[in-house]
Amino acid sequence: MLTCPNCGRENPDGSAFCNACGAALAAEIVREVRKTVTVLFCDVAGSTAMGERLDPESLRRVMDRYFQAMRAPIERNGGTVEKFIGDAVMAVFGIPRVHEDDALRAVRAAAEMRRTLEDLNKELERDHAVSISNRIGVNTGEVVATDAASGDRLVTGDVVNTAARLEQAAGADETLLGDPTYRLVRDAVDAEPAPPIDAKGKAEPVRAWRLVAVREGVDGVARRRDAPMVGRQGELRLLTDAFDRAVRERACVLVTILGPAGVGKSRLVDEFLGAVLDTTALRGRCLPYGEGITFWPIVEMLTWAAGLSEVDPREEVLAKLRVMVEPSPDADTITQRLAHLLGLEGARADPEETFWAVRKAFEALASRAPLVVDLNDLHWAEPTLLDLVEHVAGWSRGSPIVLLCSARPEFLDERPGWGGGKMNRRPSSWSRSRRRKPSASRRSCSATPARAARSSSGWPPPPRAIPCSSSRWPP
Ligand SMILES: Nc1ncnc2c1ncn2[C@@H]1O[C@H](COP(=O)(O)OP(=O)(O)O)[C@@H](O)[C@H]1O
Ligand SMILES: [Mg+2]
Repeated sequence: MLTCPNCGRENPDGSAFCNACGAALAAEIVREVRKTVTVLFCDVAGSTAMGERLDPESLRRVMDRYFQAMRAPIERNGGTVEKFIGDAVMAVFGIPRVHEDDALRAVRAAAEMRRTLEDLNKELERDHAVSISNRIGVNTGEVVATDAASGDRLVTGDVVNTAARLEQAAGADETLLGDPTYRLVRDAVDAEPAPPIDAKGKAEPVRAWRLVAVREGVDGVARRRDAPMVGRQGELRLLTDAFDRAVRERACVLVTILGPAGVGKSRLVDEFLGAVLDTTALRGRCLPYGEGITFWPIVEMLTWAAGLSEVDPREEVLAKLRVMVEPSPDADTITQRLAHLLGLEGARADPEETFWAVRKAFEALASRAPLVVDLNDLHWAEPTLLDLVEHVAGWSRGSPIVLLCSARPEFLDERPGWGGGKMNRRPSSWSRSRRRKPSASRRSCSATPARAARSSSGWPPPPRAIPCSSSRWPP
């Protein structure tokens, strides 16, 4: 008998398709793939002592809450809980889907697990007079992942054993990173070297790093900016033209730079910002993961512009926001709504009000000096943030503002109407020879060059800058 992997119906041996649902049948479809993943091991330190102090039912309840609490940060960061082994949790980042930043996701999850455990312990102390401490080990490397038709997954490889060894060697409430993980996240974390660990079957001791903190909004490995800029004069000119127009017409101009990862979008923006003088530049970056990050780049910008600090008391935050938006006659209302956006208790605003307040804040800043709002990695933005950008582009009047967005080309697949479908129809000179035929259904893309392979110079194809004047919005 063959069991259908789709509906569970039993079918006679030799059947190619399920009699009930038509799904393809195979006796044992076992696919083996080699993948680079990051493995996280987390085990309770001192659970035995807790077992002596609590009756079995209470212990069970405590451990259920603990596992639930530890699972959440793993899944929030895109990891999969592979199994619970006794009190230990094993999670894998990179299966079933690989992300370019799996190592950083795992390390973020570890840091969040630490914070979550602190909160959980407050509750456990209150409810059961106990607290839990744990150890975490994180390591990156190649595994063989078996994806059987039964749905059972199995990840095997040296990296798994080493992650477990790192976990065992960690002190209570400590996270140890293996060297391969550390190298992938080093620019986004604070970590200190830990004593090397002897691991069974390994000739050399395993190098380890003790995680101290994870920085927000930073790449695992920062991209180098020290090599001199090559080319891109045309693209830079497009940006300076857009900037000049914003200043001349006191208008809000939206420019979107599209290009694949690594093509030089951020570098282009850096060069541009280095070239425009007497300007306020607000910089924010969309993040690929996490909850409650819809307005994260705006929060980054406001925090910088108002000079807010994490330790500022509520009244101080309100005062600083008020000073920032001072030139506006609506300063008090704007302040209240921005406070809500920053998560200050007691402040209320619905999305439309938030959009309005952010626009007014930008306009207040632009009344002092031309304002460039640099929104990086827009392909990761939540739709609400895109709505906000379109709101500012569409409704702002009388203030020199450049909304400078950068995104990967697939961004337009998600948001084909971006820029109100009113993209600039004049392709820059480098794109003319490779222009796609205009297509009726995707007008907004028709004036942009195709996703060409490497250019003849050998340098990757230039990013596409798509200027769009907001003064033509709403239609
Ligand atoms: N025109 C250029 N000249 C020299 N180096 C460049 C140029 N464009 C990009 N780079 C370098 O290439 C790397 C990737 O560029 P980056 O701007 O981070 O790409 P993106 O933002 O499109 O993902 C960086 O190290 C950057 O400094
Ligand atoms: Mg970039």
